[in-house]
Amino acid sequence: MNTPLSGMAAPVAVIFLAVALILKRYLFKKPIPSKVWFGNLSTSATEDVTLDLPSSPRKQTTVPPVVNNRVSQDREAESEDLVSIKKLYHQLHCLEQYPTVIPSAKRLLLSLLKETSSQAQTLPVYENILSIKQFSRKSLDIFQHRRNDHIGKEWEAYNARRKAGGRRELFQDRGEAIWWLKQISPVKYVDGAWLGHIDKVTTPFALRRTIKGAWQILSEELGDGDLRKNHVNLYHRLPQSVAPGFPTADMADFGSQRHELNSLSVWKSAVAQLLVSLMPHEFLPETLGFNLHFEGISMDTLKAVRELREVGIDPYYFILHVSIDNSHSGHSAIAIEIVSEYMGYMLRNHGESAAQNAWEKIQAGYLLSLGLPGTVTCPSSQQVRLLRQPSFSLVEEDVISIFKAKSKVVQGLHCCSKVLIGEYRVAEWLDPIALESPRWQRNLLDALGDNRYWIRRGNSSESRFIRELEWNGRMFGSFTHAEYKIMKYWIDEMSDISRILRDDQAGQKLDSSKLEDEEILSGHPVFRPVVEIWNHYKYPSLSSFTSFPFQDIPALQITSNPIPTNLIPLWLAHPCLLQGFVAVPFRTASHFACTVVKILRAQGGFEAEQECIAGLSELQRPDSLGLVGIGMNMLSAQGCSLVAVPSLVEVLQKWPNQFAIDLLHLSHRPVEFRGLLIGVASAFAKLHEAMVKLEPSYLAPGDRNILRDIVDREMDGLKICWEELQADERLYVECCKGYLLAAEEIQKCFE
Ligand SMILES: [Fe+2]
Ligand SMILES: [Fe+2]
Repeated sequence: MNTPLSGMAAPVAVIFLAVALILKRYLFKKPIPSKVWFGNLSTSATEDVTLDLPSSPRKQTTVPPVVNNRVSQDREAESEDLVSIKKLYHQLHCLEQYPTVIPSAKRLLLSLLKETSSQAQTLPVYENILSIKQFSRKSLDIFQHRRNDHIGKEWEAYNARRKAGGRRELFQDRGEAIWWLKQISPVKYVDGAWLGHIDKVTTPFALRRTIKGAWQILSEELGDGDLRKNHVNLYHRLPQSVAPGFPTADMADFGSQRHELNSLSVWKSAVAQLLVSLMPHEFLPETLGFNLHFEGISMDTLKAVRELREVGIDPYYFILHVSIDNSHSGHSAIAIEIVSEYMGYMLRNHGESAAQNAWEKIQAGYLLSLGLPGTVTCPSSQQVRLLRQPSFSLVEEDVISIFKAKSKVVQGLHCCSKVLIGEYRVAEWLDPIALESPRWQRNLLDALGDNRYWIRRGNSSESRFIRELEWNGRMFGSFTHAEYKIMKYWIDEMSDISRILRDDQAGQKLDSSKLEDEEILSGHPVFRPVVEIWNHYKYPSLSSFTSFPFQDIPALQITSNPIPTNLIPLWLAHPCLLQGFVAVPFRTASHFACTVVKILRAQGGFEAEQECIAGLSELQRPDSLGLVGIGMNMLSAQGCSLVAVPSLVEVLQKWPNQFAIDLLHLSHRPVEFRGLLIGVASAFAKLHEAMVKLEPSYLAPGDRNILRDIVDREMDGLKICWEELQADERLYVECCKGYLLAAEEIQKCFE
């Protein structure tokens, strides 16, 4: 290459030329991989797309061959993150099989929270929850009101557009509607998952009402135990009705390339939902914030109701979400209530500074849901989308300002470098006229950000681009220190899913069961093999064992007074037993799991199932103590205040009980030990029955009546579970053995 510019006075121009030369040099030395990425373009491979690049250095505005090429390159570049996130999605559905994924899953959650929070500064005020600097119920109500008003106006405007002859906006015809339904299925198949792990018996007792409100939403997402009303089941019927054989979310095949579910943003949204409640003791405020946004009405839901009907597809799933999430008595209303409840708890128990910290975490959770909407644009709407103005974060605006400033200096230089960043050469990207176009700016940022040769997303110190700006680098001096810092910050803020998930998952197993006990008491998901759990007990051997039917369950011999120090820890721990059955929404889409939902509702003190949902009224219902509430009253009868003994953790410090801890371990394995858990839960149901009958009563009169009602409902459910388990001999035998083992331990709670 000759050097016609060597005498130029403008040093930056020279440096930029040098940059181009370096790029070229690298190109020839080590070809940049052909997988380049270009903006958000992911259109049909056969479609011609007109870009809004009137000032593009390339004169033509219609670029079909390039677009076609770009599409395949997009997929290639996305594939590493896509493969990683699809794998995680499957693993989070089957955590018992993949417990070692939890540390990297947590890292990903933190990264997604950071990513979506950093995008928030540029949000419009009606949906920017950061506008509430300090929490108050009033300010939250006003904020939600404003958001609903805005959606209402958008909806009116949409209807006006349609009335005036405007086309559909989600999809154009039935074929595209089916494509759309399939594409969003990774998100819809986890409907409810953001609350799936929220109810832990180790949560502070003072938060029971908050958790109960959240669980009421979860219960309604799961149809309150009615399979017809179960949201995931309802959604599954949609793609099934139009594309029979479409897989279910828990199947490894679901992420297979042959289904072409390739929207990274949809998978990210789905995984965020599976992750956010997985560690509720660490991320409870984030979960409540996520719920607060997620339960709000969305334009896509409203449009889907109208447009699915227009193409002859039953929109009931979407109609249901318009009504059940309402902000008067529905999920939106509960969401505000439990955020307020939680903030009150934080203020009362931990003071102003901790409450402010909690509010910021709630905001982060809200932004996580807002920032990962889980939607896709249909091929026929890609062109419309391309014409929309792209948006930028603050740091992206700064990066563009830097490029624009540099571009003016190099204006008129005809760099002959052939190095490509994305689809264009460096000199082309830096054309000052082209750089005035927001779409061009967006594409430049995306192309550079996704060029793995120059940029390591989330890691500026390993990025070649940054290293070349530093001392001994070939671009040293071309950027000021302030510009250098902006470039570093921009790169560090980028997410890189595959890198986060790639980190070694081996060696994660804790080597001490004592440590595992501490972990499980802190609410962390721990998956200990059941052989280790049962080490402490005389587990009946299979050969010497005869199973028995539900109606012949041997009764517990309880006629004497309880030993509170034995009974109370077990009582407060055992409501955990069946919670794992409802943690992953797709596994609730069965008759068996729906029955478990009903048992859990009884145990949690929720009203017996009615034709209509309870919504917010469940939180206002008197006499709604569940098993934990009754246990708290037992604790108080022993003179223990909530200040002295605020949670099960302190109860077990006061009165250690290994069986209680082992119940927690067991509850994390509802797939492998389905039978065993039902057997153990049945022994506790028999304990409840015996406590109702015990004279003189150990319970307060009101609590006795409440427990009587719980027993009736849980026995009905357990009977059904036992009958279903009979279809599998191994599970049924495990169920009977679980019953006997737990019954023996329960007997130790009485004199
Ligand atoms: Fe739902
Ligand atoms: Fe909902």
